[in-house]
Amino acid sequence: MTTRGEREQELERAGYNLFNVPGPRVLVDLLTDSGTGAMSSEQWAGLQRGDESYAGSASWFRFRDAVRELFPFDHVIPTHQGRAAEKIIFSVLGGRGKTIPNNTHFDTTRANVEFSGAEALDLPVPEALVPSSRHPFKGNMDVEALRRVLSERDVPVVFITLTNNSGGGQPVSMQNLRAVRDACHAARVPLFLDACRFAENAWFVKLREDGYADTPVPRIVREMASMADGMTMSAKKDPLGNIGGWLALNDDALAERSRNLLILTEGFPTYGGLAGRDMDALAQGLREAVDEDYLRYRIRSTEYLGEALDRAGIPVVLPVGGHAVYIDARAFLPQIPPLEYPGQALAVALYREGGIRGCEIGTVMFGRQSDGSEQPAAMDLVRLAIPRRTYTQSHVDYVIEVCEFVAKRAGELRGMRIVEEPPALRHFTARFEPL
Ligand code: F0G
Repeated sequence: MTTRGEREQELERAGYNLFNVPGPRVLVDLLTDSGTGAMSSEQWAGLQRGDESYAGSASWFRFRDAVRELFPFDHVIPTHQGRAAEKIIFSVLGGRGKTIPNNTHFDTTRANVEFSGAEALDLPVPEALVPSSRHPFKGNMDVEALRRVLSERDVPVVFITLTNNSGGGQPVSMQNLRAVRDACHAARVPLFLDACRFAENAWFVKLREDGYADTPVPRIVREMASMADGMTMSAKKDPLGNIGGWLALNDDALAERSRNLLILTEGFPTYGGLAGRDMDALAQGLREAVDEDYLRYRIRSTEYLGEALDRAGIPVVLPVGGHAVYIDARAFLPQIPPLEYPGQALAVALYREGGIRGCEIGTVMFGRQSDGSEQPAAMDLVRLAIPRRTYTQSHVDYVIEVCEFVAKRAGELRGMRIVEEPPALRHFTARFEPL
């Protein structure tokens, strides 16, 4: 517990950037669901079983087989987390003059595409940008727009993010995935999944898409994988790891070039950036991630928070996503224009009033353009991400009370300005001042 006065001091020290606030000064930490989940007893048992042989450890084979059980790609290349896989694949496939479409790139994905010199292009369906639209698959890609881009531009690979993190944790339907695959095949361009939250996506397919109600989740996941030529993965999300990731793909030549880069910066191809024990914990986590009782609990508990905020008149992205509830800060704080960062103002208020740490996903994160100019992001959201198997319902009830408290005083909140920022991924380190 901290007092309001202590939190005000923390905010000043942190330059009003919640990434700069020490974890022990946060009461309920909803900054991210990445690496913050609680591992199960079987995962901890896996840590004890870890084989730390440099090359070809037993842990590696258990990890590789667990990945291929769900994602049967020919090559599995372990990395320390998702962005390492992104760095490798975009170093090989990206470059100046190229365009890489996605339903919506997440921050590190966009940054890695742009760092290679290529353009990162978001092609969400129009409903994805309307927070109040209740379309069941707001993660879908605009297939017509994709076809146009494929015919007009130099596209080395198409990505699709399951679930769409920047757009509200919204799922992609199997039907959309199939249409995207067909468009890519017709243009002879490979399709890759950014599959961090694949199990939550598969659960939504089971709940919402015709014909999948009786299909076991692992089979839905394999069907999703069968649409693609490869994937990048952050194992810190659905696979319930505290660290880990991988790149997987079918193309032999591409795999060889990727492994050469892997050895340069991550490690030997049978451990990437991971210890043997991490790989064992992930092999077990992958089995737990597709357990339907777990998924029912997981998705329902996120929905519980979203429904309570909606009932309290707080604008949230609907339907509620898988791993997080996204508050529509632009609608919540209409007095604050996008370039004064309503999402940042709201995230700061939730910390100041209740010690809750959320994450701005809006103009702070995406407003700086690669040509140096600044524009409002498509939406200004505050993400309350739910770590897996970590908090209880009473923690969530407290979060609801704090949100209601802030909602009553929403009219008093003012915007922020940035006083210091780095050239890329500014949201992690920028410093702000209240206006
Ligand atoms: N792709 C998506 C869709 C992500 O959400 C993330 C991470 C990554 C790739 C990169 O993975 O962190 O292991 O390097 N998202 C975290 C988040 C950080 O808070 O949503 P990473």
